[in-house]
Amino acid sequence: MKKKILTGDRPTGGLHLGHYIGSLQNRVKLQTEYDQYILVADLQALTDHFDHPEKVTQNIVEIAKDYLSVGIDPDQTTIFIQSQIPEIAALTIYYLNLVTLGRLSRNPTVKAEMQQKGYNETVPVGFFCYPISQAADITLFQAELVPVGADQLPMIEQTNEIVRRFNRIYHTNALKECKAILSTTSRLVGIDGKSKSSKSLGNAIALADPPEVIKQKVFQMYTDPDHIKASDPGRVEGNVVFSYLDAFHYDQEAVEVLKAHYRRGGLGDVVIKNILNDSLQLLLAPIREKRNGLDAKMVKAMLHQGTEKAAQLAKGTIAMVREAMGITAF
Ligand code: TRP
Repeated sequence: MKKKILTGDRPTGGLHLGHYIGSLQNRVKLQTEYDQYILVADLQALTDHFDHPEKVTQNIVEIAKDYLSVGIDPDQTTIFIQSQIPEIAALTIYYLNLVTLGRLSRNPTVKAEMQQKGYNETVPVGFFCYPISQAADITLFQAELVPVGADQLPMIEQTNEIVRRFNRIYHTNALKECKAILSTTSRLVGIDGKSKSSKSLGNAIALADPPEVIKQKVFQMYTDPDHIKASDPGRVEGNVVFSYLDAFHYDQEAVEVLKAHYRRGGLGDVVIKNILNDSLQLLLAPIREKRNGLDAKMVKAMLHQGTEKAAQLAKGTIAMVREAMGITAF
């Protein structure tokens, strides 16, 4: 039997090139080797979008289209919707008793996000506790491996703490610990060069962007502010165009030649931007084409099927958990 792996994304917007190199490509590979589950984390998205649920709901089909268009195969990967599995909520409630306020406050990912959002005492409790519901996501589907970026490692640690505590308190081995499969690619920088590529910061190239938008974003990219004339020697480090050429150009030797030329001087920004635009268009055209061929009805049917399958697994686990806790029905 193949090992189960589970990952998820919050459906707050379409996926972009950062997701493509950070996780999507990897998932396409992993699906042949493992029994892969992808959770569309709409409940988790609500923790900071509760006032705009429609934004989350609308993006469920969009994100599913992104998965299918990059080659995630619903025959090999079970794609499902978090909010449609009520056992996640039940398991979260049981786990809430096993985590202290102090422990949650020390979760570095939540800490950083709270700072970023300017929360202190005003933090919604649902948001504050999302690592606990994420532990429910992972353990309910008995995932042994969880492919994630480094920012999610505290969630895995938290999950395993809950698993150990649960098993110890209820004298069981019903729950299994999981391991992270850490993404090895470094974060893709935004087109503004300032931080990571992110939909909410408006500095990302989406997988679904039309050709003219891709070109426009490439031409907005920050290069080297001291590289004023084409003949000036230029800097490659911290130059967004070269970061993207490194990540996406099909011929890395050609990129090295370009870098040497740019450093020496004599290579203009317009030239390198055109080269980058060409390679991104080449990469994204077949993805867009596949996406345009997807019918929303078909995608919803696929999500429905995936959710049914996930629900079966969830029912089995929750029965085991209740049995272990001795809270079975009369
Ligand atoms: N927290 C993850 C993110 O923001 C999404 C997520 C929700 C997830 N549940 C998960 C990831 C379970 C891995 C496993 O990207």
